[in-house]
Amino acid sequence: MRLTLRLSLSLIASVALVSLTFAWFQTRANQRGLRRELERHALVLAETLAKSAQPLVQEREYHRLQQLVDQFENREQIAGVAVFDNAGKPLAISSRLTPRLDKYPAPIRQTIQDGLTHADFLALGGDPVHVIAMPLRNDPAVIGVLSIFHDAAYIDQQTTALWRRALIGIAIQTALIGFITLLMIRLTLRQPLRRTTEWLRQLRTGTATSAARVPDQGDFEPLALEASRLASSLVAARAAAAREAWLRESAESNWTADRLRVFIRGRLGDDHLFVVSNREPYEHVRTDRGVQCRVPASGLVTALEPVLCACDGTWIAQATGDADRETTNDGARLRVPPEHDEYTLHRVWLDPELERGFYFGFSNEGLWPLCHIAHTRPIFRASDWNAYRTANERFAEAVLDEIECEENPVVLVQDYHFALLPRMIKHRRPDVRLAIFWHIPWPNPEAFAICPWQRELLDGLLGADLIGFHIQAHCNNFLETVDRSLESRIDREHSAVTREGHRTLIQPFPISVSMDREGCAVPPGELPHLDRAEILARLGVRATFMGIGVDRIDYTKGIPERFRGIERFLETCPAYRNEFTFVQIGSPSRTSIARYQDLMQEVIDEAERINRRFLTGSWKPIVLLTRQHSHEEILPYYRTADICLVTSLHDGMNLVAKEFIAARGDEGGVLVLSRFTGASHELVDALQVNPYDTEELSRALHRALEMSPEERAIRMQRMRAIVKERNIYRWAGGLMGELCAVRTVSAMPRPALVRSAVN
Ligand code: F6P
Repeated sequence: MRLTLRLSLSLIASVALVSLTFAWFQTRANQRGLRRELERHALVLAETLAKSAQPLVQEREYHRLQQLVDQFENREQIAGVAVFDNAGKPLAISSRLTPRLDKYPAPIRQTIQDGLTHADFLALGGDPVHVIAMPLRNDPAVIGVLSIFHDAAYIDQQTTALWRRALIGIAIQTALIGFITLLMIRLTLRQPLRRTTEWLRQLRTGTATSAARVPDQGDFEPLALEASRLASSLVAARAAAAREAWLRESAESNWTADRLRVFIRGRLGDDHLFVVSNREPYEHVRTDRGVQCRVPASGLVTALEPVLCACDGTWIAQATGDADRETTNDGARLRVPPEHDEYTLHRVWLDPELERGFYFGFSNEGLWPLCHIAHTRPIFRASDWNAYRTANERFAEAVLDEIECEENPVVLVQDYHFALLPRMIKHRRPDVRLAIFWHIPWPNPEAFAICPWQRELLDGLLGADLIGFHIQAHCNNFLETVDRSLESRIDREHSAVTREGHRTLIQPFPISVSMDREGCAVPPGELPHLDRAEILARLGVRATFMGIGVDRIDYTKGIPERFRGIERFLETCPAYRNEFTFVQIGSPSRTSIARYQDLMQEVIDEAERINRRFLTGSWKPIVLLTRQHSHEEILPYYRTADICLVTSLHDGMNLVAKEFIAARGDEGGVLVLSRFTGASHELVDALQVNPYDTEELSRALHRALEMSPEERAIRMQRMRAIVKERNIYRWAGGLMGELCAVRTVSAMPRPALVRSAVN
């Protein structure tokens, strides 16, 4: 039987039962009331009549007694009256009673026996009657008995009528309740149930358009909520299964954020990931519009965020925003991304003095020029070195604190700011799987040897299980440097170093960008139309051709060299004067360092000098924009430029080159690329130049502008295919895959965790 019918019938039966019970009690009460009333009435009547009958009996006036009882019999509801003497002999019986009174009813017999009043309901000649028998006294002797018979049939009749009315009422009421119940069930239960059933069916068959919520369910909200959650899990599980199946199917195809997520989950299992970098992925800053959360313009966030989200990891970084402290929970941690809550950011505070020595001093006045060999002399101060070590200790403490209760944690350290961190962590937790990725070049051993603390740096790095560089040449330089400076065994075949029994793999992982982010996912025909003339007009220039350069103002980027190449190009190709403008976006960087302040001035001066030389009416050769631009602001320049100039004197990779390629969904534009960048090893279809060679730079500019659209497209297609395949997710996947494959000494008992400074 259908549920709704069963529910309705049960309800109807319950209502009918309850109503019948009530009706029964009501009619019983009514019947009792009528009987009590009749009893009272009979008693009053008997007492009245006894007063008249008593003297007649006493005086033996039986004729008048007969007249009295006959008179009384005519009263309403009276069936008859009879008077007996004290021996039970009839003295007078009313005429209608005589034929029916064949034997003495019980109350009369009892009164004759005990001289007391008795009454009862009984049947007389088949009819219901009430009999009251009252003694007639000549005190104290009983001289007779007066009995009055009342017709009691009306009580049963009234009770029956009452029952009938009650039953009709119950029938109507039950029918109404049944009808209303059915209606309510239909409205409140059947319709939502039917909708939910349909929705669940769609989910099961995978045709649901929304898994997030069950259709509006009113009172069934809690149930609906649970069903929604169940459904979301089902959809997510199905999507994950589909993704995994797809990934298995297309093992050769490109890496995506999704594939990376699945891959990371598979590799990490239940283990947790901890990332360390100097720059934080989200910083909170005070603005006119209150505290705002900013994502620093860094490829690192794009690369590492999907990894951290995939495994709910922890990112440990320096707090750099002026509103960072008030936006953390316990003074150090907060969940990010804001609103999404997918991983934990652990902020480390360094006081300004320590930051000066660690970041500006040893990291950027020492290691940065040391590794880049851009002819800026490194500065090594003992105080900076101490600050660098102390800052590394602080970060080590933060990591050790985070992993205290973790089994087999995985730690991924970023960049040259933390060369000492791997050893510091491994020393206390040999079970950790730890990698460090060195984002800048590694110079040759002779160049590195000028660092007074080269052995400490190398030893610190070799605490890692894996050291990543962008290109093989940097790995080779590193192996050479270790070979010349430290006691260790170098395994060149497997690119590994063993020192004091610990083995470190040295591998290249070329970092990249995400094509989706740059607009690769949009087919060329659907790219928003951008007008180069309009972009230039906004900058106050009129030109036919446009070149673009995007860099931090850093001496490694070869910006003055680039400007001199442009100057030479305009000298040698005067036809491009008034026609070609180069836009240089240069974001100020590390401005507390004197060398960077000088460079900023040099860049401004060079641009002004060259502009003065060639300036005409509404045209100038160089537009210099010295403020930080967001990625969205830069994209229109990438998409409309004829040329992108990357002229680094030395660069680990250079992501501007790859961002430009990723942005060129139209397959236009030419990349002029320094052969001293890591990117030049992959982007062989760029016009490669030596940025120190002004003539070569000038020729490359001319060739790029004169290149046929066909050749441009072919070169761009090939470079796009490379960037698409070797994207940022492949970088993260490769690094994490290699790290998770590392075998550590997890079986060994852990050394006691002491909270003192790390040596
Ligand atoms: O290229 C190395 C690198 O550390 C990048 O990771 C980073 O984007 C860049 O240098 C700038 O670093 P920062 O502004 O943090 O000194």
